[in-house]
Amino acid sequence: MRTKTIAAVVAAAFGVASMTAVAAEKSVEVVHWWTSGGEAAALNVLKQDMLKRGYGWKDSPVAGGGGDQARTVLRARVAAGNPPDAMQMLGFIITDYAEEGLLGDLTPVATKEGWDKVVPAPLQKFDKYKGHWVAAPVNIHRTNWIWANKKIFDELKITPPKTFDELLAAAAKIRKAGYIPLAHGGQAWQDATIFDSAVLSAGGPAFYRKALIELDPAALSGPTMAKAFEQMQKLRGLVDDNFPGRDWNLATAMVINGKAAMQIMGDWAKGEFLKAGKKPNVDFLCFQYPGTEGSFTFNSDAFAMFKVGKEQEAGQLALASAIMDKTFQEQFNLVKGSIPARMDVSGERFEACGKKSMADLKIALKNDSMLGSFAHGHAVPESIKGAMIDVVTNFFNSGGSPADAAKKLAAAVEASK
Ligand code: BGC
Repeated sequence: MRTKTIAAVVAAAFGVASMTAVAAEKSVEVVHWWTSGGEAAALNVLKQDMLKRGYGWKDSPVAGGGGDQARTVLRARVAAGNPPDAMQMLGFIITDYAEEGLLGDLTPVATKEGWDKVVPAPLQKFDKYKGHWVAAPVNIHRTNWIWANKKIFDELKITPPKTFDELLAAAAKIRKAGYIPLAHGGQAWQDATIFDSAVLSAGGPAFYRKALIELDPAALSGPTMAKAFEQMQKLRGLVDDNFPGRDWNLATAMVINGKAAMQIMGDWAKGEFLKAGKKPNVDFLCFQYPGTEGSFTFNSDAFAMFKVGKEQEAGQLALASAIMDKTFQEQFNLVKGSIPARMDVSGERFEACGKKSMADLKIALKNDSMLGSFAHGHAVPESIKGAMIDVVTNFFNSGGSPADAAKKLAAAVEASK
């Protein structure tokens, strides 16, 4: 009796163990920060795709727009020797983990599927490390957008402002009519997202590159940078009192619901409008932050695979392959608000803002004005970015002299190098 019981227990244990092994082998754990309505809808396209390919999806979301919280969780998991199979990553973060030797090599799949031919060079710079593919890019987002409530614009007879002064004039009208001019969430990464546009507007693409990518001390500390801070100061005057800590998607909801007129945000905001059933040029408007037309500050979500053992490799490579599939890239980006990371996907099924982004990207690639987003990790390495964002967010919240802020920015860069 006793023996039988033990045997039964052992059999059951083995049964469970081998079932777990199968499940583990056939599922892929993915850490990401796509938790808003639009983001979750887009993620679901990827989950369903993986299920069709015969793989389970082990979801490990870490809420927090822009991914700061998710990156902190990842760092802790890596330190504890427990990295996930796959992680959503932006720009220089990919390089950081690749440098540590922690990322799997996707080159065999990339070569077989011809990624080199379809992914634009500014993305390859981050997705490859020393000639090897270490991340699969799922999209191209653009940060220098303004999203506006069309009903408010029509009611007040406002058209998309072409200059920063026109933006301020429009905002004054909006305020007078009882609406909040600018929906904003006071979180460091959101302040930094506005800063991408303010710098581009104040100095143009060549200045943006010199200051935020090449970190030229004179550009960082000089009068053009002071102008960018001046814009930040004026924008601070356009937000409501409840802005501190507000999540970005709640700010988007204020524009969707007609409480606020505009939001300066990357095109993941468009994912929220679309999820709410809103249509561009009918319910909402999309236009470039004044003075940045023709330039394109980008960030690209990519998925990197950690070296977690042979048994997970098939699933990881299947995920990389799913992400880079041409049809998938169309379906996913139609929902996410971004445009495909592959240049060979047709724009036909995209709505007006998506089509504009695709057309502008082609021009920016030709003009060399496709610039990595500072706020979203594509301009400078993470350690320097953090020090710079502190200056930006302190200034946005506490005010002060724009010229001093520019000097502080240059000093922060110097100290963090
Ligand atoms: C990511 C987007 C995401 C946004 C807000 C950005 O850093 O690239 O995919 O939707 O943060 O969470």
